[in-house]
Amino acid sequence: MAEPRTGLRVDGDVVPAGAPGATLLDVLRASGNFAAKGACRRGECGACTVLVGDRAVLACTTLAALVTDEVTTAAGLGDDAADLRAAFADHAAFQCGFCTPGQVVRAEAVLRERVERGRDEIVRAMSGNVCRCTGYRQIVDAVCAVAQSRQCFRKVSS
Ligand code: FES
Ligand code: FES
Repeated sequence: MAEPRTGLRVDGDVVPAGAPGATLLDVLRASGNFAAKGACRRGECGACTVLVGDRAVLACTTLAALVTDEVTTAAGLGDDAADLRAAFADHAAFQCGFCTPGQVVRAEAVLRERVERGRDEIVRAMSGNVCRCTGYRQIVDAVCAVAQSRQCFRKVSS
């Protein structure tokens, strides 16, 4: 019988796996990693978005016990997302900043798919991440700018 897992790989470290039934968000925050935010805590806002492997997941509705791949939070994206962080700053794509780590992680996951998307498709791909401050245009501008520089932006949306 397999031994219960004692650790999760997060941002290059191993953190305690937490109690049975703990969500990934609980485990992250108990380990002192506060990059993923807990806002709704019921899968509605995207503030807790992290990568599991290359896939964006909502940490608040993901059982930590089921996570086997490396977890990457906004804090662990490092140089991979330097262009996204710069674009968010250049386009004034945040105000309070509470949604921003989740937005950046979601955008990184979308762009890693290397699927050519137009603006409307980027809007749809980012639509699970709520922002109460910006009105979204600046966030979409920032993601489109990076999609363009990473050569996966289509000028005409389908
Ligand atoms: S805190 Fe996870 S979706 Fe809102
Ligand atoms: S910048 Fe405040 S919620 Fe998005």
